[in-house]
Amino acid sequence: AKTSRSLLNPHHILDIAHRGASGYAPEHTLASYKMGERLKGDYVEIDLQMTGDGKLIAMHDETLDRTTNGTGLVKDYTLDEIKQLDAGSWFNENYPEKANPAYVGLKIPTLEDIIDTFGRSANYYIETKSPDVYPGMEEKLLGILKNHKLIGPNAHSGKVIIQSFSKDSLLKIHNMDKSIPLVQLLSYHSDADISQGEIAAIKQYAVGVGPNYKYIDRDYVQKVRNNGLLIHPYTVNTREDMEMLLDWGVTGMFTNYPDLLHEIIKGQ
Ligand code: G3P
Ligand code: CA
Repeated sequence: AKTSRSLLNPHHILDIAHRGASGYAPEHTLASYKMGERLKGDYVEIDLQMTGDGKLIAMHDETLDRTTNGTGLVKDYTLDEIKQLDAGSWFNENYPEKANPAYVGLKIPTLEDIIDTFGRSANYYIETKSPDVYPGMEEKLLGILKNHKLIGPNAHSGKVIIQSFSKDSLLKIHNMDKSIPLVQLLSYHSDADISQGEIAAIKQYAVGVGPNYKYIDRDYVQKVRNNGLLIHPYTVNTREDMEMLLDWGVTGMFTNYPDLLHEIIKGQ
């Protein structure tokens, strides 16, 4: 992983291990994050949900069904209950060609489990998911990051980036701590355009944008870059698409295959 000050330099292309190296291991498990680090991702990407007893855990969905042997909403369970679940077997069943017996019985990690595992050796790209469902999640997140000295006066800029589709969530965080770099996620359903007004509004609180990449083009990327914002499209999993986006001038991307992106960046 790249270190320290240069992380937010737009000339350094960031390789963001999406849900860990989730093309190879069950997403949002320590196994997936460790593989992301081993395969040269610069950041571990973490989606956050909150348990019924107020603990932040790494999970993409609001429900347990897709990635564990549980069912129902995360918020209806305590952390103790959630810790009983198997977050790895689904991967072996869905991807027999990538199955590994070591994935059976993997636990859902809390944000603190992840930080305890990687400490300052990793960089963290953390998403507040469903912030409307989880009032107070931003305060909890910043509290944990502060306790572990990942934000605050002695933290390296860019050690933690916080992302969200929710502008309200990002503004809340910005109002609590203006030093944390934020990325506004965007989701397009047809040809993407971004106005100068939108860019100016985002620049008030964020250092960059994270659009889905299928509907953007070179002009979109150039416009964002010329206005001084970083741009990290998601989720890019083929060599062809990675090379195209790099050619357009993106400053990083989310990928399930951080090894592939690393190889391409290194070869440039
Ligand atoms: O956070 C970037 C990308 O992960 C957003 O989409 O649904 O995979 O969290 P999603
Ligand atoms: Ca995400």
